[in-house]
Amino acid sequence: MKIFGGVPLRGEVAISGAKNLALPALAATLLTEDLCTLRNIPDLSDIASMLDLLNHLGMSIDRCGPNSISLRSSVIKSITAPYDFVRKMRASILVLGPLVARCRKASVSLPGGCAIGARGVNLHIKALELMGADIAIENGYINASAPNGLFGCNINFPISTVTGTENILMAAVLANGTTRIINAAMEPEVAAFADLLIQMGAKIDGHGGSIITIEGVDSLHGTDFTILPDRIEAGTYAIAAAITNGRIILRNCKYNHLMQFFETLRLSGIESKVITKTSENLDDVEVYRAEDIRPVDVQTAPYPGFATDLQAQFTTLMTICNGTSSITENIFENRFMHVPELARMGANISIHGRTAIVTGRKQLIGTQVMATDLRASVSLVLAGLMANGKTVVNRLYHIDRGYENVDQKLLACNAKIERFTV
Ligand code: EPZ
Repeated sequence: MKIFGGVPLRGEVAISGAKNLALPALAATLLTEDLCTLRNIPDLSDIASMLDLLNHLGMSIDRCGPNSISLRSSVIKSITAPYDFVRKMRASILVLGPLVARCRKASVSLPGGCAIGARGVNLHIKALELMGADIAIENGYINASAPNGLFGCNINFPISTVTGTENILMAAVLANGTTRIINAAMEPEVAAFADLLIQMGAKIDGHGGSIITIEGVDSLHGTDFTILPDRIEAGTYAIAAAITNGRIILRNCKYNHLMQFFETLRLSGIESKVITKTSENLDDVEVYRAEDIRPVDVQTAPYPGFATDLQAQFTTLMTICNGTSSITENIFENRFMHVPELARMGANISIHGRTAIVTGRKQLIGTQVMATDLRASVSLVLAGLMANGKTVVNRLYHIDRGYENVDQKLLACNAKIERFTV
């Protein structure tokens, strides 16, 4: 993407459905033979990858509207999630829990490494073993079988894991007896995911908190469910307004899912306020820079802490703050790959272990940069929108994994951008 920076972004951005809820929601349709309809599904390459995998497993899939999909798995044709699917999108691990729950066996390729870190799935595997599955790792595959079904028990996660919690929720809803997930992930997407399972007939309590109790039932039924807005997309466009000294209205988002984030922005001189409450109990939020950007120290943490998925974007904002900010990435071990690229644009950042020390300057200078992963790619676009001159962000396909219609949304706010292929 070619970007001519220095233009304040002004306008409105309609926030799309949350990728990190849509992905587990799609996997959860494996838990019933009935028809499930999911609405407000974002049109992203990660969603397409998950649909390809579900189709391979035997799911029949109908698009019943621009962002609505109906799915039905009357019969599971395969219990294998091949490497070719999983290597493209690690959230494919989310079919492991439902396949074992419904078919009592599964063969899912290990996701392998990822740009931002090792991202093991050992906690998913250990939890399923505790619930009675026999699991062998053979030729890079997780081969799981539970001929007598799964049995509820206490699952104590040593670290909070989002997809780990979601996989075990799906394993537990059809298990014999009661499962308690201790130190469960509390992200809004996890809480909403549990609401979906409850709508399908599951018995779940405590979701959104750190202890979730699931009473196994014999079967689940279909449902019609709407995906909540993507708080990471909303946070990203909030930073787009801040970094270009513009003013953007985020349409249809959930302010209270970004409370801590907006408070952090407020400390750095960025104002945000709810200007409308919609009939679906969603918020329109106006974001603008009230004064010079002040340095704020940040540590990423599981929800309700500062989201790791907004770290790269916030680091980019701090490259033009009027002081020095320290940003510590506690969730992933290698999530600073945007930093060397920002340095090419003149950013003054040094990495010390898990901490980036950013000393702000007036403006960055446009140049050629390379995207390495989803959130790094969007942070380089943000840098280009702020920088003096022209920036070209290469390998932009990363951004299409998590930002629906990003070109159109930026162009609608006066961004001077153009995507091209070399
Ligand atoms: C989810 O990934 C999100 N993806 C990620 O979003 C997000 O960054 C992450 O949660 C943290 O919030 C989806 O929901 C599809 P974790 P997940 O399990 O579940 C370690 C994006 O940009 N861990 O909460 O894979 C792991 O390595 C993506 O949208 C183990 O060691 O993350 C990490 O360091 C990126 N073993 C930490 O825990 C395990 O078995 C948290 O990971 C599981 C996790």
